[in-house]
Amino acid sequence: MARSRHARCALPLLLLSHSRASLSASSSPNGSDCSLFAINGSSSAAAAYFTHYRFYDFRNISDPQPPPAGAPSGLTASHTTNDSSWHLDWSARDQAKGAANRRSIPVDYLPENIFVEKSNESSADYSSYLTLATSRLKNDTQSAAEIDFTPSSDVVYISLRVLARVSGAAGAVAGIFTYNSDVSESDIEILTQDPDSQVRYSTQPTTDPDTGAPITGATVNATIPSDNWHAWNVHRLDWLPGQIASWADGSRLHTSTVNVQNGTAGSRVILDMWSNGGSFSGDMDVGGRAVMEVQWIEMAFNVSGGSVGQGGTVCDIDKVVGSPVPVADSGGASISPGWEVVALICFGVLARHASLASDFLHGRPVGKRLHQPMAKV
Ligand SMILES: *[C@@H]1O[C@H](CO)[C@@H](O)[C@H](O)[C@H]1NC(C)=O
Ligand SMILES: *[C@@H]1O[C@H](CO)[C@@H](O)[C@H](O)[C@H]1NC(C)=O
Ligand SMILES: *[C@@H]1O[C@H](CO)[C@@H](O)[C@H](O)[C@H]1NC(C)=O
Ligand SMILES: *[C@@H]1O[C@H](CO)[C@@H](O)[C@H](O)[C@H]1NC(C)=O
Ligand SMILES: *[C@@H]1O[C@H](CO)[C@@H](O)[C@H](O)[C@H]1NC(C)=O
Ligand SMILES: *[C@@H]1O[C@H](CO)[C@@H](O)[C@H](O)[C@H]1NC(C)=O
Ligand SMILES: *[C@@H]1O[C@H](CO)[C@@H](O)[C@H](O)[C@H]1NC(C)=O
Ligand SMILES: *[C@@H]1O[C@H](CO)[C@@H](O)[C@H](O)[C@H]1NC(C)=O
Ligand SMILES: *[C@@H]1O[C@H](CO)[C@@H](O)[C@H](O)[C@H]1NC(C)=O
Repeated sequence: MARSRHARCALPLLLLSHSRASLSASSSPNGSDCSLFAINGSSSAAAAYFTHYRFYDFRNISDPQPPPAGAPSGLTASHTTNDSSWHLDWSARDQAKGAANRRSIPVDYLPENIFVEKSNESSADYSSYLTLATSRLKNDTQSAAEIDFTPSSDVVYISLRVLARVSGAAGAVAGIFTYNSDVSESDIEILTQDPDSQVRYSTQPTTDPDTGAPITGATVNATIPSDNWHAWNVHRLDWLPGQIASWADGSRLHTSTVNVQNGTAGSRVILDMWSNGGSFSGDMDVGGRAVMEVQWIEMAFNVSGGSVGQGGTVCDIDKVVGSPVPVADSGGASISPGWEVVALICFGVLARHASLASDFLHGRPVGKRLHQPMAKV
């Protein structure tokens, strides 16, 4: 009923009209005008809102540079890069890790396994990408790659999307995940020993820590729409309150409520390419090599104790990759807000003000110190 809808929206629309940015905000190529980022859902996976947005674009870096001098983007609401400055927000793991047990081999995480390179094929869409490489050395060590998002290791809820392809020798794992500890972790994993169509979605732990018995539903094998992880696919992990939704190329393939990270403890955001010769990753042949190549990383997320910006505009990140679009643009005739849009704005503004008030009342701190590199297998 339109009348009751308008009645319910009167307060938030009034609040919005006093906000810094208004409904007529123009399009925002890097999200700088946005203060709340909306993602779509599906019939059984919730839509959600986030206070922070990042887009790292590796598609057109013609002259890759070593890490520039400077500082990470910090916890600004929005940040996008399309040059070597992505380095500032991602740290390369540099750690020699001994064999975890008798059935696995040492893993050397090395920054040199992470680089932007020219595309090996010609495409109008991209001319370069980020590569994470792993290889099996003659001395039975696995050289591996991992990047950690540095502006916050206290991410709580995220929609993480990565346009990637994976290839190379069997016995490697490409990981796209959130990590708090070995028992608080949500993963997308592509195993080079698996069938081309198969991607694994897991919430750790996948086995009972005491008995070793598999935990039902903690790990699933999904068949991705392209049937081929060698091809470019958008892999997407939505960690939301009480549920994890896993997507590929715009299709939600799995929704889990098993072992979902509880939101009390913040997580790191990590991409890696590794093996340890064990039964999960598989044992790569000596001299073997496998890569995960990445055109872009897009993420909308909240941060534990994070602040919410003043005023602002709700932007939709599902319309254009890398460019959050204000949900309603009253300045143009192009978008005439339907009831969903009005409801979205109402909800967004209410949520923002409710949480501002609650942050204020609880005196939540803004941001925390970063931890030492973690110890994932
Ligand atoms: C990066 O984005 C800016 C703004 O959209 C654009 O002007 C610039 O050409 C881009 N640079 C590269 C290397 O694509
Ligand atoms: C690629 O980067 C160059 C500058 O290095 C810029 O002139 C060009 O517009 C960019 N192309 C695209 C498609 O962004
Ligand atoms: C967004 O782009 C504008 C103009 O190109 C620039 O001034 C601003 O620093 C950018 N903001 C972010 C968050 O990247
Ligand atoms: C480019 O490299 C990818 C793997 O990195 C491979 O799948 C593809 O076949 C290569 N294309 C050409 C034209 O060599
Ligand atoms: C294995 O070989 C690599 C490359 O030569 C070397 O960096 C590494 O230290 C070696 N590891 C061990 C355990 O000997
Ligand atoms: C939330 O998860 C963290 C990390 O696993 C754990 O330490 C904490 O006890 C959990 N809190 C609740 C209320 O379950
Ligand atoms: C997933 O597939 C692998 C083989 O590719 C199999 O070993 C594993 O048991 C499967 N996991 C589940 C949960 O079905
Ligand atoms: C949600 O957005 C993705 C792009 O991020 C798109 O591929 C998908 O079709 C959208 N789904 C719905 C139900 O709108
Ligand atoms: C993220 O934080 C904002 C502001 O506090 C809140 O409105 C939103 O619901 C949070 N998102 C999730 C998925 O909890």
